Amino acid sequence: MTFLNELLGGFGPSGHEGRVAETIRAAIEGCVDSVHTDAMGNLIAVRRGGGTGRRIMVSAHMDHIGLAVTDADEHGFLRVCAVGGVHAGRLISGHVVFENGVCGVVGVEEKVKGEAKAVDLYVDIGASSREEALAMVRIGDMCVMRPRVTKLGEHRLASPAMDDRIACYVLAQALLSLPDAHENEIVAVFSVQEEVGLRGAEAAAFAAQPDMGIAVDVTGVGDVPEPAVKLPVKLGGGAAIKIMDSSVICTPSVVAMMERLAREHDIPVQREVLPFGGTDAGAIQRTRGGVPTGAISIPCRYIHSEAETVDLRDVEACVGLLRACLLA
Ligand code: CO
Ligand code: ZN
Repeated sequence: MTFLNELLGGFGPSGHEGRVAETIRAAIEGCVDSVHTDAMGNLIAVRRGGGTGRRIMVSAHMDHIGLAVTDADEHGFLRVCAVGGVHAGRLISGHVVFENGVCGVVGVEEKVKGEAKAVDLYVDIGASSREEALAMVRIGDMCVMRPRVTKLGEHRLASPAMDDRIACYVLAQALLSLPDAHENEIVAVFSVQEEVGLRGAEAAAFAAQPDMGIAVDVTGVGDVPEPAVKLPVKLGGGAAIKIMDSSVICTPSVVAMMERLAREHDIPVQREVLPFGGTDAGAIQRTRGGVPTGAISIPCRYIHSEAETVDLRDVEACVGLLRACLLA
């Protein structure tokens, strides 16, 4: 199995990212000077610099949105609540899986009019009573959309956990591509609990005390029929350089540096303003006395659904831009 497939298939709802961390550790161990896991579960890899450079923290989150079991009813249906930014409507009729391998399908209370919320959903795991259901999974157990990867055309991949495993892939590829010696010290953080409020990156940034921060995450696009918001970012348009989202207004000097490096290295980029959402950049920028921070985004369709779709040419552009930033 390729590294990317293994990343996309790894079970890892917020707070339970350990398996994904093991996959990443195995892939990058040979190319970093140290790697450890902190008390929250962040996987932190360090590449020493030449001594005259800056300390740069780069973050990509390992966690994936999911559903947590709140109870089971008398007929064996699991009742659930959201873990992260779940759009309940996009989960209905989907397939889910728990860490212990129990599988389920998602139904919704038909009486719900309009927008269903996660609490209106239920998960059918094939149980016929509350006792049977709670013998299969426990209250508090989490499930995620069952992993699969679908190739669309020549360049595109769809998978439920693109957000944000594709960014973990970008960060790992950038690390693997670094020359033996470079000036900047690089603290690569594969963070936990981004989807529930940038929690892992907050702790990691405080500990790392970086001179500059970069988050890598997916971003929304406007290149589908009747998009919710008109955005110029599109699949195949290159790496997106974030200007702002709901969590961060990127530091102008970092944005300018990214745009300059993209020109110098002939990397296709597009400017991104996302009127909603958040990334680890928001947590890094606000740590201690403040940190100049930017973000590189992989354009992605259908975010927070089973169909999260990216273009591999954009992924390559993101690897190139991130590598250039780490060496700048
Ligand atoms: Co997300
Ligand atoms: Zn994300």
